Amino acid sequence: MIPIEIKQAMYGFMMSQTLFVGDEIGIFDYISQGKANNLSDLAKLADVNPDALKRLILAAVSIGLIEFKDGEYKIPDHLQPFLARNSSQYCGDSFSHFREVSVRTFLNFKEALKENKPQWQSIFAQTQEESPFGQLYNNPKHLENFLDSMWGLGYAPAQELVKKCALHQHNVLVDVGGGSGSFAIAALENHPNLKAIVFDLPKVRPYLERKFSQHQIAERINFIGGDFFKDELPPGDVYVLGYILSDWNRENGTQLLNKIYNSLPKGGLVLIVEKLFNEDKNGPLETAMMNIAMLLETWGQHYSGSEYIQWLQEIGFQNCKIIRSNGEKHMVMGIK
Ligand SMILES: C[S@@+](CC[C@H](N)C(=O)[O-])C[C@H]1O[C@@H](n2cnc3c(N)ncnc32)[C@H](O)[C@@H]1O
Repeated sequence: MIPIEIKQAMYGFMMSQTLFVGDEIGIFDYISQGKANNLSDLAKLADVNPDALKRLILAAVSIGLIEFKDGEYKIPDHLQPFLARNSSQYCGDSFSHFREVSVRTFLNFKEALKENKPQWQSIFAQTQEESPFGQLYNNPKHLENFLDSMWGLGYAPAQELVKKCALHQHNVLVDVGGGSGSFAIAALENHPNLKAIVFDLPKVRPYLERKFSQHQIAERINFIGGDFFKDELPPGDVYVLGYILSDWNRENGTQLLNKIYNSLPKGGLVLIVEKLFNEDKNGPLETAMMNIAMLLETWGQHYSGSEYIQWLQEIGFQNCKIIRSNGEKHMVMGIK
């Protein structure tokens, strides 16, 4: 019999598609919210063929995403908050980039192993852009999906992490490449005297301004559009780099860290918010998988906490420490 480790890896891509497509057509949401609990109603609501849908549902049942009890479909209680779209813990936003982009870049994994570089040619006909973001952001749907994913992966851990650092002693937080604004928004929601600036590529502005007003913090937060490699960073006493150092090579990362160090006043903070490898690099699984995605879609990689600390110390930061969340995104802090 094929061992379980091999079976899980072999069928893993089919399981991902069951999750992504089930979420996209709304099946998990309809069941969670009690809008439908039988095949024909679900097929009507999702506008798909009932016989074909049955196969997706059987797969979801066997994965454990759906239960079938007393003739009705049900989402297991512990999964409901994550699969119902009206829940604050809904995680479907974080699938969208995987579903639209990563499943395609992974088709070029073998090429990437030879070339050791991103594989955007698997999606875009022309790939002259040096930065993956230029290409991604030329397509409004990819931009929206990407930022939704960033929000989905970032907001919950940020809410936890901002409570674990003394941000009340600081005045202006600059979220460098702040993306969907997940960290800056969580920081302001938890620290009423703090102000924030999200510095990111100009195309991100409309998405962010929508988020600022949805979270009712628009008067304490600004967006500044620019290029963090070419432009001056706005002044602040806390700089955040969330999923930035894992996007770029070591040289570019060092350039950014030096820029931040030089912009900070003495006593100012740098906060690196990232997935971390275990110290012996035997996991976690999510970090190891995303480390492949970083190869296929960026110029960066993931590191362990002590590797980040060493990097920060080389730049000149002191009292560096790791602050962990209960999730996958953790923080490495350094003080100037
Ligand atoms: C992986 S996302 C991380 C977003 C956010 N910090 C988070 O943790 O969710 C990388 C972000 O860097 C931004 N970015 C990429 N290149 C940039 C550049 N040259 N200047 C400014 N922002 C850039 C992207 O627009 C994107 O929002």
